[in-house]
Amino acid sequence: MKIVLDIGGSIVASPAPNVPYIKGLAELLIELQREGHRVMVVVGGGRLARDYVATARELGASEDYCDEVGIGATRMNAMLLIAALGEHAVKALRKNTLGAAKAKKILVMGGTKPRQTTDAVSAQLAWRTHADLLVVATNVDGVYDSDPKTHPKAKRLPRVTPRQLVKLVSTKEYRAGSTAVVDPLAARIIERNRIRTVVLDGRRLENIRAAVSGGEHGGTVVG
Ligand SMILES: Nc1ncnc2c1ncn2[C@@H]1O[C@H](COP(=O)(O)OP(=O)(O)OP(=O)(O)O)[C@@H](O)[C@H]1O
Ligand SMILES: [Mg+2]
Repeated sequence: MKIVLDIGGSIVASPAPNVPYIKGLAELLIELQREGHRVMVVVGGGRLARDYVATARELGASEDYCDEVGIGATRMNAMLLIAALGEHAVKALRKNTLGAAKAKKILVMGGTKPRQTTDAVSAQLAWRTHADLLVVATNVDGVYDSDPKTHPKAKRLPRVTPRQLVKLVSTKEYRAGSTAVVDPLAARIIERNRIRTVVLDGRRLENIRAAVSGGEHGGTVVG
């Protein structure tokens, strides 16, 4: 299978880089690649992005500039995973992502340009490379009918249609550093291109493994 993994900076490096987690993730990715899967990873910005974006904003930066700052943070996080993968990784931190996607190694990248979160980059990468599966690994066990952090009675949805997902996240703001389980642009790309997607709790690596092997991942299937 060709898999795009959209991994939350929230689980890789928040509040600080999680070394055992990054090591475990690298091992899992190498294992998947050995089994014959083709793996591409987009790493999110996490706490570093949120802190730096907030600071840049406080200093009077434009929203596009805040995005650039956030992208820098996603790349810093991506570089940690690249460090853990060593020779197994191909970096796509700057240009020619699609060229890099053809390499036999594990592609790792962060954000690419302003007005696009790493969720949107992941969805676009999945679409452009005709991936079989997009795995959104985040800090919550799937898509809820409202934000579980602010609505204690929110219910997890084991399955949503792409349309439902678009509707659910459409109230979210586009600003750099905002949180949504899947950002609105990514949801629209998923819908338009019918990308097979799973949203799951990536803090448990077994869930990511299960999503690839067709096991019980405890998250939300978009389809
Ligand atoms: N409908 C929803 N269902 C589930 N989670 C939601 C929903 N709406 C908002 N959220 C929030 O989205 C958060 C996850 O997104 P967040 O952007 O914080 O993390 P991430 O995407 O893993 O990390 P990063 O964006 O730093 O890469 C959850 O902790 C949850 O509070
Ligand atoms: Mg996010």
